Amino acid sequence: MSRHAAPGATHAPGTRQAPGPTEAPGTTQAPAITEAAALEVRGLTKTFPIGGLFSRSSVRALGGVDLSLGRGEIVALVGESGSGKSTLARCVARLEKPSSGQILLDGVDVLKRDRFQASKHYRSQLQMVFQDPFGSLNPAHRIEHFLLRSLQIHGKAGSSSQTQQRLEELMTTVGLQADMLHSYPHELSGGQRQRVAIARALAVEPQVILADEPTSMLDVSVRIGVLNLMGKLRDKQGISMLYITHDLASARYLADRIAVMFAGELVEEGESLELLANPAHPYTQLLVSAVPDPARAGSYDPVQRAKLRQAVLASTSCAYDGDPDQPCSAEKPVRHRVGTTGNDGKNAHWVRCHLYRPRSGAASNALTVEPISA
Ligand SMILES: Nc1ncnc2c1ncn2[C@@H]1O[C@H](COP(=O)(O)OP(=O)(O)OP(=O)(O)O)[C@@H](O)[C@H]1O
Ligand SMILES: [Mg+2]
Repeated sequence: MSRHAAPGATHAPGTRQAPGPTEAPGTTQAPAITEAAALEVRGLTKTFPIGGLFSRSSVRALGGVDLSLGRGEIVALVGESGSGKSTLARCVARLEKPSSGQILLDGVDVLKRDRFQASKHYRSQLQMVFQDPFGSLNPAHRIEHFLLRSLQIHGKAGSSSQTQQRLEELMTTVGLQADMLHSYPHELSGGQRQRVAIARALAVEPQVILADEPTSMLDVSVRIGVLNLMGKLRDKQGISMLYITHDLASARYLADRIAVMFAGELVEEGESLELLANPAHPYTQLLVSAVPDPARAGSYDPVQRAKLRQAVLASTSCAYDGDPDQPCSAEKPVRHRVGTTGNDGKNAHWVRCHLYRPRSGAASNALTVEPISA
């Protein structure tokens, strides 16, 4: 569960480091992940119509995504720009309507529920934190307003003294001083605003938080604070999180598992340290190779990296259409297990790629049972 290297750290992926001054969250009191998934996505697809009213063109943003989030677990979703990460989060948050598939929260298929009736209840269980802490807070209101409104909408406000106490508690939980309740958003730093956005999400006591690049607009110096806060919420409150990021170092620091998205598909998934130590998909290898690492000889060889990048971009037929020379265009690859972790199938490190060659004697590595099967 715990991560052991600070973001930006340049150690070989998979090597555990002694906790430094910014000790990784979760080194103590980490609750065990229970069996039932807090959130499960099955076969989720999303196609956007494009080109105007009379156009028949469309773009396939999600091509059948399966993903589960254990209780008290953080899963990092990484992938190139435009691969569908935000679309997945927005579909799960019901800000977009998926084209097909299932979203199970606590085992209940939320898409079968009436959208309007279910939405308030759903949002009390699942909250989203967005990338832009500046845009998500109306500058005309004081911080108190945002938190109070969340409490009121979800029926969590009690008497005025109880409410005041809860507001102050929320501020303390996210590491802000209670007197900042009277501040306006423009009086806060970017990091403080993102903490307010997290406090607003916490006000409804959700089981799951979807955080879409929550630190990417923050100064590097304040990112670590927000990441530690997220780790603390997992460890102390058992909140499950989908952490969308481009930053592998922070994914490694914070997340229990990493899922890699490429062209609307999950192509690789596994425990963070294991996946980063043994990336199996060419795209994951490309991502890992982009992290400078003095411990890996030649890890930042620009020529090698350029070649790898070219190879990966040439294999965009992973999206199963287009290039007739690639087997991917004809048939969806099966999942192959990589290594031996997660023998229960749940936390298995797997890859979905025709180019993957199991190591010798590991022909049986193809998963006969998919980790998330209906
Ligand atoms: N409302 C929309 N209408 C049409 N196409 C859309 C819409 N939203 C997303 N898309 C398309 O869906 C694909 C996935 O977009 P998405 O925003 O999910 O990517 P992303 O992985 O979050 O990228 P980034 O890392 O840049 O945030 C892209 O091709 C995008 O152009
Ligand atoms: Mg996005």
